Amino acid sequence: MAVPSFDRHVFVCINERAAGHPRGCCKERGGPAVRDRLKKELTRVGLRGKVRANKAGCLDQCEQGVTMVVYPEQVWYGGVTVDDVTEIVESHLVGGKYVTRLMLDDQAHLGDATEGPAIEPTPIVKGDATTE
Ligand code: FES
Repeated sequence: MAVPSFDRHVFVCINERAAGHPRGCCKERGGPAVRDRLKKELTRVGLRGKVRANKAGCLDQCEQGVTMVVYPEQVWYGGVTVDDVTEIVESHLVGGKYVTRLMLDDQAHLGDATEGPAIEPTPIVKGDATTE
């Protein structure tokens, strides 16, 4: 079986900690729902097969709220809610423009960059989309 080639991987933290843990966790803050919405949005815009929505364990940014990171450009987002997902998909993953209002501070590796490559969506053939 051929290894798939994705343009981007999006890692969404869904880590779970015991109730009352001082750092909290992305599971209790809605990480799984964010990832589920991300998968649905990738299908909706035609990026399924080009962008992969990965589950991640703790990304060590717990205090920032639900955390995700987009590779290969390594753009980190924090405090992400399900209501932010459409903007991230349409602006960043399709259009290449980072959603700066959700970016974590101190991302020196990005320099002044606020954009990466755009990705041409694959048109959805009616009846061919799934929401796995
Ligand atoms: S639990 Fe999500 S970043 Fe740590």
